[in-house]
Amino acid sequence: AVIDAHESLDSTNDRAKSLISAGEVSTPVLVFATRQTAGRGRGANRWVAGSGSLTFSVVIDPADFKLETAELPLVSLITGLAVRDAISSKLGDVCVQLKWPNDVLINRKKVCGILVEIERAGAIPFLVIGIGINVGVDFRNASVEIRDRAISLNDIADQSVDPSEHLIEILIRLESELGDYRDSRAFPRKRYAAHCALTGRTVGLSSGDRVTYGLCRGVDDGGGITLENEAGSSVYYGGTITHIA
Ligand code: BTN
Repeated sequence: AVIDAHESLDSTNDRAKSLISAGEVSTPVLVFATRQTAGRGRGANRWVAGSGSLTFSVVIDPADFKLETAELPLVSLITGLAVRDAISSKLGDVCVQLKWPNDVLINRKKVCGILVEIERAGAIPFLVIGIGINVGVDFRNASVEIRDRAISLNDIADQSVDPSEHLIEILIRLESELGDYRDSRAFPRKRYAAHCALTGRTVGLSSGDRVTYGLCRGVDDGGGITLENEAGSSVYYGGTITHIA
């Protein structure tokens, strides 16, 4: 494995993408930055990461895990599960959940965001799995809006865990989850369901400028979310959950 570590980067995903397009990757690669000045999130989101944030990207060759590019949404969910389990294993008795597709929540606030992207070197696709975790972020001086929605691991853990321990735990679990998927070709839907923060709740799913409301019935084998409303039951594979009742 190659480790590409930096004191500061604009975005670890962007750095990974430029290594790929320059034909300079021999997978797997870990791109790591202590500080990230222009981190990107899903859609128009940003991920500003100063002190206390753990930000990194893992580049894999999808062929190593027999992944088709169409399976990218599943890779994103599987990554969420790996990160959830890694965080949970270090925290003990704390409720660590997944907000579809792949945000990790503690006490219903976001602790981790994941952005999976494809970048090609010529015709060959690579996957960039970007992960940002609030490990020792001090939100005390943040706006009320942010404090309502975000949490850091040190807000709930009695003693602080070294960020590198989280990093290693995540890498081990991610490799093992992707290996299990390669061998079984099955998304671990039941394990995901056990930690889904949305099942049984009424949610709003935004896609473009449209919001669809419905009772969440869980996540199916293809990684889609099932919403039930007066129009019936439908499965959605894209969009962002913007409301949880
Ligand atoms: C989201 O919650 O919308 C996804 C956030 C993803 C942030 C991580 S931090 C490391 C990697 N590099 C980026 O620019 N983004 C991802």
